[in-house]
Amino acid sequence: MTTNRPALLFLHGFPLSPEMWKAQKAVFEADGYTVVAPDLRLEGAMTESGLPEPVTMERMAEEALAALDRVGIDRFAAVGFSMGGYVAFALADQVPERLAGLVLVDTRAETDTEEGKAGRREMAAKVMEEGASAAKAMVGKLLAPTTQERRPETAREVERIILDASRVAIASAALGMAMRPDRTAMLGAIRTPALVIVGEADAITPPDVARSMAAAIPGAELAVIPQAGHLANMEQPEAFHQALSEWLHRISIAMPCRIL
Ligand code: MLT
Repeated sequence: MTTNRPALLFLHGFPLSPEMWKAQKAVFEADGYTVVAPDLRLEGAMTESGLPEPVTMERMAEEALAALDRVGIDRFAAVGFSMGGYVAFALADQVPERLAGLVLVDTRAETDTEEGKAGRREMAAKVMEEGASAAKAMVGKLLAPTTQERRPETAREVERIILDASRVAIASAALGMAMRPDRTAMLGAIRTPALVIVGEADAITPPDVARSMAAAIPGAELAVIPQAGHLANMEQPEAFHQALSEWLHRISIAMPCRIL
């Protein structure tokens, strides 16, 4: 079958799950897109230190490719949110020929600072000790203050998703993110159409980070989502859908692709 719509691979963030893409899955499937949203909450083997082995972004990319292979998808547009963006960079590195598009949502190309890496290890140890509830404090950082005030149900939903994750999966991903390579040098070599999306009040990967990332990728477009923090797709789904679907429409016209 041929279609001018690329299959969409939605890659979730940390410490979240594919459930963060529920609204997007419904909207884009209804619009005729094939949507794949793999669960990247993988558990590293436990070590004597009491911490699991890290699950790297490359390992998560392999998991995503396996999910695509299971449904026979060759080419796809990767939509990676935050940690999912790190996984999308790994895919752009591993299988650039399979990418029909790259959508980087509230993410960054830089690796962690030494302080950031130490913070990840502390978080992994805390989560192993106290369980997923130790990661609940992230809700306040993921959502804009306006979302927390006006859409408390979104905050509750995010908290529920976090609490649903196993402590080993959260710790493994935190340690894996600390090991991720810096991707800034690859930005200028990206040849696939790219869209950078950011919430205007994103406190984790602020708009300036998104702007410089978009400026470094040849031909990349930038969409800033008003009244959204880090979790822009859950906070302002309509604006997010509009930005993504208009861009998909533009690239679909420019680049027909085949679904097997
Ligand atoms: C995420 O939302 O996936 C995380 O904020 C990513 C990170 O901690 O670097």
